[in-house]
Amino acid sequence: MRVLVLGATSGIGLACAKALSKEHDVIGAGRDTDKVSLEGVSFIRCDVNDRSDVKRLYTEVSCPDVIIFSQGCAYYGLHENISSDQCEEMVLTDLLSPIEITNHYLPFMKQRKSGHLIYISSVTADSVNPHGACYGACKAGIRSFAKSLFEEVRKTDVKVTLISPDLTDTDLYRNADFSVDKDLVLKSEDVTEAVLFAVNKPSNVDIFDVVVRPMRNAIRK
Ligand SMILES: NC(=O)c1ccc[n+]([C@@H]2O[C@H](COP(=O)([O-])OP(=O)(O)OC[C@H]3O[C@@H](n4cnc5c(N)ncnc54)[C@H](OP(=O)(O)O)[C@@H]3O)[C@@H](O)[C@H]2O)c1
Repeated sequence: MRVLVLGATSGIGLACAKALSKEHDVIGAGRDTDKVSLEGVSFIRCDVNDRSDVKRLYTEVSCPDVIIFSQGCAYYGLHENISSDQCEEMVLTDLLSPIEITNHYLPFMKQRKSGHLIYISSVTADSVNPHGACYGACKAGIRSFAKSLFEEVRKTDVKVTLISPDLTDTDLYRNADFSVDKDLVLKSEDVTEAVLFAVNKPSNVDIFDVVVRPMRNAIRK
């Protein structure tokens, strides 16, 4: 299979790209592709919020069998302390870009009668998120989008999977007003296991909604 991983330069996307490259052709996308090299993964530089980059992605990567949407950014703090630019970056990266990229590839998948769209949402999609209101709204948005899309495309044999991790030890929290206890939160590899579980199901089975939680959870304010 050909797998496109968006957000493959770090964290959960990087772990997915690494694991999937053992058995599949993996194309990894992100802005800072210089910081990574993985055997079996070809990287393409793409800022999902830059129209010309996304156009080039569409030209260079014809419809993959699986797309993992793991691009994301998060800014935390009291909402009035989050700037408009930061809100815009979260909405564009976490919500609009997966929706738009789906728009491009979905017709090819439907025509081919196969394809798998995997969205990395978050447990925040279903919770109340003081200090993360905008981020949580974006994650709730992508959850809602994926739920509707699943019903819309299921009869065309295109699969949709929503993975909702709890706190995971990645770079996502570099802009946070709290820190996570790395020993207690999930590892990117734990989330990758859920992705592999969904990817490896037979064609008549869709694993739609997976929540991945650590047994304990700790943030420090
Ligand atoms: N960590 C957690 O606790 C957690 C929990 C639940 C859900 N999630 C979700 O998991 C996904 C992956 O996040 P992560 O935790 O792995 O964080 P991460 O290590 O910061 O990875 C984020 C990835 O997104 C890419 N990215 C960010 N902005 C981009 C842009 N404009 N264009 C293209 N790529 C962009 C980054 O690459 P470049 O900087 O190279 O562009 C990086 O590869 C996100 O959707 C996040 O919301 C994370």
